[in-house]
Amino acid sequence: MKTIYIVILGIFLTNIVNAEEHLTPTAPQEYLNMKNPIQESEIDEQFLKQVGRLYKRKCSKCHGFEGDGKGYYAKTIEIKPAAFSIPNYMAGRKDGQLFWIMMSGSEGTEMVPVGPGTDINLSEEQMWQLIIYLRKKFTK
Ligand code: HEC
Repeated sequence: MKTIYIVILGIFLTNIVNAEEHLTPTAPQEYLNMKNPIQESEIDEQFLKQVGRLYKRKCSKCHGFEGDGKGYYAKTIEIKPAAFSIPNYMAGRKDGQLFWIMMSGSEGTEMVPVGPGTDINLSEEQMWQLIIYLRKKFTK
């Protein structure tokens, strides 16, 4: 009987340690070199409204309406969603890094690939648009 408790405790502790040690993986160099094809001239209120709707539908349950990583679903998952609104968070990440995670997901976390052909099936253009949105709305 005792062994069972020890095993359960062990699993519990391992989970805590794993969650704390988790670092979001870094994209391969070819992604880091990518440039966002969206032009500054395309970005206006209308653009942000439209992309905002996409963000709310597909991302906010984890990343939160305010980009703070506190969507309702975030409570239930172990490795927490990126909090874009942490000071300097966005500045510390290249567009290609954000694009790569959206394209490939982050293994072992709830961040699944969201690009073309996935369940979410965003186009590459939509992903670049979302990156603009994250920067404009959540950079602190
Ligand atoms: C089911 C929860 C969930 C949903 C929905 C979700 N994400 Fe994530 N996201 C995560 C988690 C968890 C991480 C952290 C991954 C890590 O640290 O390895 C993450 C990380 C990211 C990152 C990585 C940032 C970095 O530091 O490199 C980006 C960008 C991102 N998500 C964008 C999005 C976008 C855009 C959407 C909507 C299309 C979305 N996510 C939907 C859970 C989610």
